[in-house]
Amino acid sequence: MTGRFMTERIEPSPAGIAQAAALLRAGGLVAFGTETVYGLGADATSARAVARIFEAKQRPRFNPLICHYRNAEAAFAHVESNEAARRLASAFWPGPLTLVLKRRQNCPVALLTGAGLPTLGVRVPAHPVALELIRAAERPIAAPSANRSGEVSPTMADHVLRSLSGRIAAVLDSGPCKVGLESTVVDLTGPHAVLLRPGGTTEEAISAITGPVQRATLAPSQAVEQDYRSPGLLASHYAPRLPVRLDVDHVGPNEALLAFGAPLSGAAITFNLSRERDLTAAAARLFAGLHWLDAEGTRLGLAAIAAMPIPDRDLGAAIYDRLQRAAAPRS
Ligand code: TXA
Ligand code: MG
Repeated sequence: MTGRFMTERIEPSPAGIAQAAALLRAGGLVAFGTETVYGLGADATSARAVARIFEAKQRPRFNPLICHYRNAEAAFAHVESNEAARRLASAFWPGPLTLVLKRRQNCPVALLTGAGLPTLGVRVPAHPVALELIRAAERPIAAPSANRSGEVSPTMADHVLRSLSGRIAAVLDSGPCKVGLESTVVDLTGPHAVLLRPGGTTEEAISAITGPVQRATLAPSQAVEQDYRSPGLLASHYAPRLPVRLDVDHVGPNEALLAFGAPLSGAAITFNLSRERDLTAAAARLFAGLHWLDAEGTRLGLAAIAAMPIPDRDLGAAIYDRLQRAAAPRS
């Protein structure tokens, strides 16, 4: 995939911002500076565009991405706010704070952006160029840090180019990041605020508003993964109601088929991730496919979801990882 793009460095002039916004609207990847670190941006409402983020970063699994908004009102139109959220937003937005809240019913953000979770991490960045870019794109922008998986987060456009040149359309160069540390991530979906990731907004400043903040503890298996510090994610990840059978080479009439490539015949219902065996397209359709097969399969009284094999390369590894989680025994 390297060398697929001539990654362009774009100046943060009005014309440059308009150009970057047009690339985003067309489904391209544009890295941009925020006050914390450079983000690797894509149209959050397009699963196809968001799949390209995981592809470019070579993320081994689908971690939920933060959705960036131009202001609190736009964010709270997509997630359900509560009093703590509104107070934290008015105290710290724009700024290095991400709030995890429940998606609204009509939320247009792609399921892949939140890795299939019923929640979404939302944030309003405190950087004039980032805010102008989001405004010009006229949609929320999904953005993890703009580095390949496992590398340190970039705080200058040069860092981004060193890591991702040839893999993304452009970097909007707005100079060095002031904070240099990622946003603090707080889960506000329960009765208490839970700190999922310490960051640019201090715990003391947050608890002064919300009262005592719970610290999420790390499961050892998660702690080894640098880039995956939000705990409780695995447990709360979307698990289908129907059991999942992996790597199937046959399918029964009481099963729902998750196909890849030419579909096996004999299933009650089928959702094809990609008939052309395109892994980026498959990644974009994965969570929607699981949700649909589970709902329809349950309605029809089917016994299981049967998943065809996925190649263990590129985004296939992340797709397979997610399927294994869906197939794991329930506690
Ligand atoms: O400062 C930042 O937050 C930067 C800039 C670009 O905004 N972004 C960033 O993204 O650091 P990323 O993908 O590297 O980290 C996002 C963190 C992860 O720990 C992820 O698990 C957590 O936020 N997160 C996002 N959505 C979540 C959700 N729905 N539930 C729980 N955790 C979530
Ligand atoms: Mg990161």
